[in-house]
Amino acid sequence: MHSDRITIPTVSINIQPITGSKLPYPENLGFGKVFSDRMFTQSWTADAGWHDAVIGQYGNLSLPPSTAVFHYAQEIFEGTKAYRRPDGDINLFRPWENAERFNRSAARMSMQKVDPESHVEAIVKLVELDHAWVPSGEGQSLYIRPTMISTEPALGVHASSSYLHYIIAGPVGAYFASGFKPVSVFISDEYVRAVRGGTGEAKCGGNYAASLIVGEEVARLGYQQVLWLDGIERKYVEEVGAMNIAFVYGKHIITPQLTGTILRGITRKSVLELAPSLGYTIAEERISIDQVLADLASGKITEAFGMGTAAVIAPVGRFGYKGQDYLVNGNEVGPVSNHLYQALTDIQYGRAPDPFGWTLKIVAGR
Ligand SMILES: Cc1ncc(COP(=O)(O)O)c(C=O)c1O
Repeated sequence: MHSDRITIPTVSINIQPITGSKLPYPENLGFGKVFSDRMFTQSWTADAGWHDAVIGQYGNLSLPPSTAVFHYAQEIFEGTKAYRRPDGDINLFRPWENAERFNRSAARMSMQKVDPESHVEAIVKLVELDHAWVPSGEGQSLYIRPTMISTEPALGVHASSSYLHYIIAGPVGAYFASGFKPVSVFISDEYVRAVRGGTGEAKCGGNYAASLIVGEEVARLGYQQVLWLDGIERKYVEEVGAMNIAFVYGKHIITPQLTGTILRGITRKSVLELAPSLGYTIAEERISIDQVLADLASGKITEAFGMGTAAVIAPVGRFGYKGQDYLVNGNEVGPVSNHLYQALTDIQYGRAPDPFGWTLKIVAGR
């Protein structure tokens, strides 16, 4: 059960003093707009390897306009959260999984891997130092954004000879600020997110840049999210926006199998591991959109939901495809989505025991 837990060694992070604090943070947090006082940075060069690990004041980066990342997008990132527990301590949720995925992304983008243990330790130290930035309001958390960028100041198209690894964090509001509500999803048969052999499995900025045009179109048509189909036949279901997707057939849950184009979501993995203990069966399968639409029309699909760090579980209330709408569970949150949301967030926030060993508790500020 604890196989993904790693021992955290002491690496030398130079903790620098900061001048002043931006606390208190604003009441209206939103997402990704407010950042804590500190950030972690370290650099990589062939000669020195990873070096100069520092936690210091959050501030601007200064890079020449020729820096490789601005031209060829050799960049990766991660997203994980710190949750305020009822006892005042703080939980990280499966940070080891994020570290592993960060290194998978690094490998795909020809970037340097980080030492996963030091990466997790950097997150722990940052959260310890900026513990006062972990909010305690309903559904709030501290969003943590590890990032790596190529920093070679040169325009040749090749892997960079230097990298910057940094971690920033900021308090975020509840995803469902106005209550746990179903989202509407437009099924795109024009644009695709990823193709086999491409970068769909990596968490690299380019994937998101290419998706922005669809986000705008979806909003114009009156939907909130996009459902991505496979890049070749546009027939098989892949992901929903920046979340993995699942369909519920009574007590049975089906999610698309990982084929190399789908991001290996940590929430998805957690649902796969958690659902059987809550009385559901779960399967990873190739799912065709025709089957989904037929099962929505016949009522065989009782619920559908997205899975991701931001929303945890996002129930889908309506799918739109080729000008027709398909309602799911009468556009209401269903019992399975609700059950999984409660069970997962209870573990994340430390409101319930964690039999899986997923959380890493940080005792800070006492
Ligand atoms: C494209 C995409 N799919 C799925 C996910 C869900 O992954 P996770 O559960 O690890 O947040 C994310 C968010 O990280 C994402 O950006």
